[in-house]
Amino acid sequence: GVVTFVSYDGEKYEAPLDEGRSLMQVAVDNMLPGIDGDCGGEAACGTCHVIVDPQWSEKVGLSGPVEEEMLSMNPERQPTSRLSCQMAVSQEWDGLVVQLPEFQI
Ligand code: FES
Repeated sequence: GVVTFVSYDGEKYEAPLDEGRSLMQVAVDNMLPGIDGDCGGEAACGTCHVIVDPQWSEKVGLSGPVEEEMLSMNPERQPTSRLSCQMAVSQEWDGLVVQLPEFQI
């Protein structure tokens, strides 16, 4: 499976969906720009923020309470925002598209 990250200016980056990793780890593994993962996946830094394509939101789920604590402080937060470190990759997400917020470049 493949996931596509779309930067704020429309650049597309594809990465393989490695099961057993978080979506943040997939981005870091593939050196994608815009996802830093500074806290190592503890839902504590907010640098792994992605905006899930609304068509995919039902499949990947909405943010949970731990993510909300970080996301609620983020002015770029959208209804389908997630912290990608809290998204355990599934092969069922083949074709998933997520957007990167403006200030993550
Ligand atoms: Fe820090 Fe996700 S990596 S919040």
